[in-house]
Amino acid sequence: MSQRIYLDWNATAPVLPEVRQAMVDALSGVHGNASSIHREGQAARAVVERARRAVAGAVGAPAQAVVLTAGATESNNQVLRQHARERADAYIVCTVVEHPSVLETVRALEKEGVRVAYWPVDRQGRLVEGWLDERLAEGATLVSVMWANNEIGNIYDVAAIGEKVRATGAIFHVDGTQALGRIPVDFGESHIDYMTLSFHKMGGPKGIGAIVTREGLKVAALLSGGHQERGRRPGTENVPAAAGLEAAARQLAADGESWQQALRQRREAFLAALNAEVQGFELRGDTEHQLLNTLNVAFDEVDGEDLLLAVDLEGISASSGSACTAGSLEPSHVILAMGFEAKAARRSVRLSFGPATPQEELARAARILGAVVKRLRTMPAL
Ligand SMILES: Cc1ncc(COP(=O)(O)O)c(C=O)c1O
Repeated sequence: MSQRIYLDWNATAPVLPEVRQAMVDALSGVHGNASSIHREGQAARAVVERARRAVAGAVGAPAQAVVLTAGATESNNQVLRQHARERADAYIVCTVVEHPSVLETVRALEKEGVRVAYWPVDRQGRLVEGWLDERLAEGATLVSVMWANNEIGNIYDVAAIGEKVRATGAIFHVDGTQALGRIPVDFGESHIDYMTLSFHKMGGPKGIGAIVTREGLKVAALLSGGHQERGRRPGTENVPAAAGLEAAARQLAADGESWQQALRQRREAFLAALNAEVQGFELRGDTEHQLLNTLNVAFDEVDGEDLLLAVDLEGISASSGSACTAGSLEPSHVILAMGFEAKAARRSVRLSFGPATPQEELARAARILGAVVKRLRTMPAL
């Protein structure tokens, strides 16, 4: 039996060998509570502080700017809810294609009476030009834009947007989760006030993440009951995850550029193979400004869910969009926001890979997709 082909890196990536080893070492050798003053506690504290420094180093920020959290969902909630709590005049802007951890949080705040506005996109998922200037002129107090989209892979020009936002004195929040390991991420160069991160899409551990803040800005705790992270994130630190995070951030700093090269080669080869093996498909998103590892593909006349189930039986793991909404029959909010009707939106399939995906697997995936698409097209509709 041939190996399964994992094409769902935007949901989560296989952990890097260095990450696995660091976590195993921490699980077996570091059992203290990072808040304890004894030697075991100090050893645990050292792991957490090394993770903080490694994350800071990987994204071009000072170590004191990094607050460790339990992942990007928590980080996004924390930044947005803090803003709404602290500003009586809060007026939050986010894109219509944000991850649910931003979009649903903003919707919840809207229900609580916070003024909000949703930045629309065009048919390629590009942010509508000029729209933000009007919101900023109206007094928007926080703008939230993801660096790269998890479903269509669009890369947004956060440096240019940040410059505009900064000029008005509003807060700029960027969810950088899908950008890590795929495009250069430089916190200092991008006029960002709060950047939220998770490393599990590039081989880090799940369940740990970060908020990176501009100097002088505060991070208020979402929870109460602990002094950890200088009161900004209460709760006993997950030391094995911190050890894995350090390893992931170090690998990113060392290998980030070569990963991009590897992704470029794989994308080109995969696209060539798809073109050779499959008749009739459309690439969705802004293919000129798209993560190299992400293809959002709609095959003519083929429902995405039918396709995913059929290719799963043939050994391919892929998805139709955000893992948080998979399993529901709702079409992707991102593709709908781009102006596709529900039936057309349901045709979208997300194929996402990593720098370690063997090229042979991509060639095999293209062959399987070609055969399955052909078969599904000949099956009578139910
Ligand atoms: C863009 C984006 N933001 C946030 C998240 C949530 O991250 P986490 O799984 O760390 O909560 C994800 C992934 O699920 C994502 O793709």
